[in-house]
Amino acid sequence: MAKTVEDTKDRPDMGRRRFLTAATSVVGVAAIGTVAVAMVDSLEPTAAEAAAAATVVNLSPIEPGMQVTVPWQKKPVIIVNRTPAMLATLAEAESKKLLKDPNCDVPQQPPYCKNQYRARKPEWLVMVRICTHLCCIPHYRPKKASVTPWWLGGFHCPCHGSMYDLSGRVIKGSPAPHNMAVPEYTFSPNGKTVTVTKMYPLAHLC
Ligand code: FES
Repeated sequence: MAKTVEDTKDRPDMGRRRFLTAATSVVGVAAIGTVAVAMVDSLEPTAAEAAAAATVVNLSPIEPGMQVTVPWQKKPVIIVNRTPAMLATLAEAESKKLLKDPNCDVPQQPPYCKNQYRARKPEWLVMVRICTHLCCIPHYRPKKASVTPWWLGGFHCPCHGSMYDLSGRVIKGSPAPHNMAVPEYTFSPNGKTVTVTKMYPLAHLC
């Protein structure tokens, strides 16, 4: 079971935002090679490096309605086990026209997650928990009316009030421009673990 990060649900965390901004900056590394081909080859991740960059999460302890947030490449990734009632709110958000990008046309997720659930399997949300406005960490607020009287459940950013549904789709009126990013991931054949492998190249965090 991967180690969880501390849940920040009760406090705005500007320090964390700055940390994440710094953590996602590119760190330049100069390498000297003898031939150009060798230099290009050296930039390709080895199998060992790719494996080290992946995070494997045991899904068994995550009961329906619960979430776990794991650190992955210095970013928090949230995994939510959504109940049928939670999934029903996704269509409701669409029918009420609450969402900026209901069909996920901005490529903030891999093609296999371009659906209402933004997921490979409807019940399991796997998402980078970073607000697309200025990189704060949104709170998980699954209960109806827990943020506003019309709240269906979702994520609420403490910094400037951005709101997202339970698929991480941003709600109209939020300062955040896009849905939260979904990384590349796979399930094990028995469905008991998920492996987060890499960022979807077209997605941006904030
Ligand atoms: S960082 Fe989330 S609303 Fe500004």
